[in-house]
Amino acid sequence: DSGSFVPAVVIGTGYGAAVSALRLGEAGMPTLMLEMGQLWNTPADDGNVFCGMLKPDRRSSWFKSRTEAPLGSFLWLDVINRDIDPYAGVLDKVHFDQMSVYVGRGVGGGSLVNGGMAVVPKRAYFEEVLPQVDAAQMYERYFPRANAALKVNHIDPAWFEETEWYKFARVSREQAGKAGLNTTFVPNVYDFDHMRREATGEAPKSALAGEVIYGNNHGKQSLDKTYLAAALGTGKVTIETLHRVTAIRQQADGSYVLSVDQSDANGTVITHKEIACRHLFLGAGSLGSTELLVRARDTGALPHLNAEVGEGWGPNGNIMTGRANHVWNPTGAHQSSIPALGIDDWDNPAAPVFAEIAPMPAGLETWVSLYLAITKNPERGTFVYDKATDRAVLRWTREQNAPAVEAAKSLFDRINKANTTMYRYDLFGPQLKNFSDDFCYHPLGGCVLGKATDGYGRVAGYRNLYVTDGALIPGSIGVNPFVTITALAERNIERIIAEDVKTAR
Ligand code: FDA
Repeated sequence: DSGSFVPAVVIGTGYGAAVSALRLGEAGMPTLMLEMGQLWNTPADDGNVFCGMLKPDRRSSWFKSRTEAPLGSFLWLDVINRDIDPYAGVLDKVHFDQMSVYVGRGVGGGSLVNGGMAVVPKRAYFEEVLPQVDAAQMYERYFPRANAALKVNHIDPAWFEETEWYKFARVSREQAGKAGLNTTFVPNVYDFDHMRREATGEAPKSALAGEVIYGNNHGKQSLDKTYLAAALGTGKVTIETLHRVTAIRQQADGSYVLSVDQSDANGTVITHKEIACRHLFLGAGSLGSTELLVRARDTGALPHLNAEVGEGWGPNGNIMTGRANHVWNPTGAHQSSIPALGIDDWDNPAAPVFAEIAPMPAGLETWVSLYLAITKNPERGTFVYDKATDRAVLRWTREQNAPAVEAAKSLFDRINKANTTMYRYDLFGPQLKNFSDDFCYHPLGGCVLGKATDGYGRVAGYRNLYVTDGALIPGSIGVNPFVTITALAERNIERIIAEDVKTAR
């Protein structure tokens, strides 16, 4: 199967990739998507496609011998993680020296494992982060287009107020209010009507059964059910799974050749393929797309890539923390795994924070209030090619997360003071730790728009080579990032199809 040619290849099947493939397919362009993970649509022996959070098995993780859940401990006990067989599971935790990054693996990328929170950034901050992008166009055209295609929906506020499943969020809202802080509802791609039917017993439970980071068996409108289904529906797009792109080079006629390893689900490489294409779209995520380009530049395969490739990475200021509530203030044994409320203190000039009120769906009362804080951390990391391992390594130190911890601390100190409560120190591993500063869910940057690429994601130095994903956003966007990634990809691909693809055919 070596030596095949397709007009367009899209690497990855996450947000940027899915948008690009759909629009290319609609434009009549034969497009091949290459995804290193699996297609998640076949039930295993237990009748479910995905495994649950409380009893994880090999489906949970991308080639690990033990699960690596974000909350590794409870009362310092390692009670949450389980030994498993290495397998092409759905959630990966990529470890760098002083930062680990959670990413999704499979058809749909991060949409398979994420919390589904679909948040449009504050316009003023969007303009600060991406000044060269026409914000009026984004907010009038591309954000609405992304929200519609992603099937973003809103929780019914009346149901939110009455259901036991969001007691944890109401408790946190009241405590934030005592500290003078405002909360806001957070839209989601999880179907809230389905969730209500879960609560009444009319639909099988997923969000209400603690499912999220290892996949939702029901209710979640992940990309395989939205953009990717539509892309396949054009009849022009095909997806190959368990295909990992390892290298990119260019031929004399300007076409690109990809080296691809096809594996089985146990990780054994079955075949090696070389696939050539005219137009190449990188949608392998901040880590994946950046690594492919850093490797291509520094091995000499694509020597004209500029010095900005690998720069401008950040974890979107992600910091998690937990608070201990008084015994008379329980958060509930029943908690929806889908967050629905955030504390919005982004306009605080001293320390902007947007903190999602996260569930801890343990099935028993924990008295814990959990949060994912998104802060404005100006620190940035760099990806550097390591010849010995042929990997891109992330230069980012733990100290670089200190501004993010400071900002989160200033907010949660206020809440603790107003409620005479304390932090939990037992949730993030064996040591005393009240803030997680060594992992993130929102990797952004590495091939920043207008620096490593032009203003539309065309890679500087090469024709017909594009970055479509979270690598374009310079390290921070102030809210959960997938709506921004989607909308930006919509904007860029519209221009690329009009100017590069249509004229080329
Ligand atoms: P994305 O990472 O989605 O997709 C990249 C794809 O490329 C993956 O499928 C990967 O397997 C594949 N790939 C990588 N390298 C490859 C190679 N060499 N060859 C072939 N394929 C390759 N965001 C949000 O807005 N709201 C939320 O609630 C959350 N919650 C959340 C929870 C958890 C647990 C995680 C891990 C993440 C989130 N996020 C989130 C973040 C969000 O999921 C993330 O920002 C997007 O998925 C990024 O989209 P991209 O298009 O950049 O790539």
